[in-house]
Amino acid sequence: MRRFILCLSLCLLPVALAAQQAADAVEPEAAGAGQVAVSEQTLHALEAKAAGRPVEAKDWMVAAANPLAVEVGARVLEQGGTAADAMVAVQAVLGLVEPQSSGLGGGAFLVWYDGESGELTTLDGRETAPLAATPRLFQDEAGEPLDFYDAVVGGRSVGVPGTPALLKAAHEAWGRSEWTGLFDEAIRLADEGFAVSPRLSTMVAGDAVRLTRFAPTRAYFFPEGKLPEVGQVLKNPDYAETLRTLASEGPAPFYTGDIAQDIVATVQGAPGNPGVMEEIDLAIYSVKERAPVCVPYRGYEVCGMGPPSSGALTVGQILGLLAPFDLAGMGAESAEAWRLIGDASRLAFADRGRYMADTDYVPVPVEGLVEPGYLAERAELLKGEAALEAVEPGAPEYDHALNWADDASIEFPSTSHISIVDGYGNALSMTTTIENGFGSRLMVRGFLLNNELTDFSFTSHEDGRPVANRVEPGKRPRSSMAPTIVLKDGKPVLVVGSPGGSRIIGYVAKTIIAHLDWGMDVQEAVALPHLVNRFGTYDVEGGLVSDELVGALAGMGFEVNRNVLTSGLHAISVQEGGLLGGADPRREGVAVGR
Ligand code: GLY
Repeated sequence: MRRFILCLSLCLLPVALAAQQAADAVEPEAAGAGQVAVSEQTLHALEAKAAGRPVEAKDWMVAAANPLAVEVGARVLEQGGTAADAMVAVQAVLGLVEPQSSGLGGGAFLVWYDGESGELTTLDGRETAPLAATPRLFQDEAGEPLDFYDAVVGGRSVGVPGTPALLKAAHEAWGRSEWTGLFDEAIRLADEGFAVSPRLSTMVAGDAVRLTRFAPTRAYFFPEGKLPEVGQVLKNPDYAETLRTLASEGPAPFYTGDIAQDIVATVQGAPGNPGVMEEIDLAIYSVKERAPVCVPYRGYEVCGMGPPSSGALTVGQILGLLAPFDLAGMGAESAEAWRLIGDASRLAFADRGRYMADTDYVPVPVEGLVEPGYLAERAELLKGEAALEAVEPGAPEYDHALNWADDASIEFPSTSHISIVDGYGNALSMTTTIENGFGSRLMVRGFLLNNELTDFSFTSHEDGRPVANRVEPGKRPRSSMAPTIVLKDGKPVLVVGSPGGSRIIGYVAKTIIAHLDWGMDVQEAVALPHLVNRFGTYDVEGGLVSDELVGALAGMGFEVNRNVLTSGLHAISVQEGGLLGGADPRREGVAVGR
C-alpha cells in the first residue's frame, strides 16, 4: 500500500492544501517531527472530511478519533478480521495516541449487531466502585460536596477499569483474528514513537498544572521537562510492555496479577487524595451483558446501551417525545423544531436525573421511561409555543416503589467513540472513556487511570430521600455514553456515537434527527452545528448557529449561551449499495473503508 506523509492537522486544511501535501509526499522512513505516515486511503478520507463529503465504501468501514488508530483497524478488517477484532486494535492504539480520552485504565460500552444471527447484544465494561466506597465518597466532613477537581485528581475517583476485560469478552464472542496479533501495531507505535497530534499537545498544555502533580504522569507528558510539541515523537515503552502482557496473557494480570497490584498501590498511594480500591475489587470485576434498549422512531428502531448508561434511555426519550411532531416539514433551520428538540431534551434530562442509575443496585423503570403512552403524555407538554418555564421529572410506570431525590452529577466533555462495520455484516458501536480529560491523572505502566467514579452524584440524599445514582460499593456510575445502532426491518442503517460528557446525548439525538428527519448524509449530519439543552440553558455552537435562530430561541424564552461544543461523532450509514462514513470535523478522527 502506498503511504503518504502529511501534517496531522491536515483535517483542518482545505482540500487544495491536502492535495498539495500528497503531491509533496516523502517516504515514511524520512518522516520527521510534525509529520505522520498515512495510507492513500486515509488521505482520501481526510480530504473527503475536509470537503464535507462522506467517505464511501462497499465492504467495511471504521471510524474513530485518530487516523493512526483508524488505519490499524482498517488493516485488521482488510485482512478478514471482524469488527470486534478491529475494535481491539483501534482501542490499543487510541490508548497511546489519544490517552486523554480512553484506554486500558477506563471503561466502555459496546453495542454489537451480529450479521449472521441478526441479534443485538450490549456489553457493559463500565468501571465499578471499590467495596470500601460509601455514598459520602465525594463529600467533606460536613457532608458538603467536594469541588469537582478536588475529587477527580488522585485515587479517590478511580473505578475498577473495565476496558481490558471488555476487549477480551468482545474478542471471545465475535473475534476471528488471533488475539495476540491485534496488539502488534500499537506495540510498535509505543516502542518506536508516534507523532503528537495538535489536540493532544493542546490538551497537555491546558492541563499542565494537574498533569504535573504525579511523578510518572509528569515524566511521560513532559519529556525532559517540556511540553510535547505537535509532531514531536513520543515513545511509551511502559505501555508497549503492558500491551505485550495483555497480548500474551490476556486481561488476567490487570485483575489478579502484578498490574492489579500496581493499580491498587497507585490509587492508595496517590499523594493528597488517596483512594480506597483494594485488590479484591479488581479480582471480582466482570463485564456484563445487558439487554439493549430500543425505541421506535419514524419506522426505525434506535438501539443502544441501557443502565448503567443513561444514553439509550435519554436519547430514546428525546426521540419518543418528538415523534408526534413533523420535524422533517419544519427543517433544520426552524426555531420551532429546535424549541421542540430543546424542551424534549430537558424533559428527558429531568427523568434521567431522578430515575437512571445502575439497575444492579436500584430499580430503574426502564420500560416505563420509554413506554409510548408515557412519552405521548409527556409530549403534550411540548404543545405550546414558548420554552417550558419549569421542567419536572415525570411519573413513569414502575414495578418498585420509587422515591428518589434528584442527582447532582458533574460531567465534563471527554471520551472517544468507535464505529465499525465489517465484511461479514456485523456492526459495532463502542463509546470508551477514562472520564475527564486525562482521567484521574494517575499513570500506571504507561496508561492513565480513570476518574469514572465522579460520574456518581456527589450528593447522596436530599430531605431524607436517597439519590438513585449515589455511590455504593461495587456499583457502576451512571453514564451518558450512547453508542447507538439504528435498525430498519431488523438490519443496521446507522452506527453512531460520540464523546462529550452528558452532551453526548444531545449530539447523538441531533445526528439521528439530521439523518432520518432532515435527510442529511452522515457527514452533514455529524457536522451540523449543535444546539444542546440539558437543564434549561440552550448551548449553541460558537459562531456556527445563525443570529436569527439564536434570537428566535431567545424570543421563545430560552436562555441561550454560545459555547464550544466539542463532540467527536463517528457515524457509518449502511445503504443498499454500500457504506457511507462521517467523522466529526471538530476533532481529528476519520472514517476509512473499502
Ligand atoms: N464519563 C463519561 C460518561 O460515562 O458519560
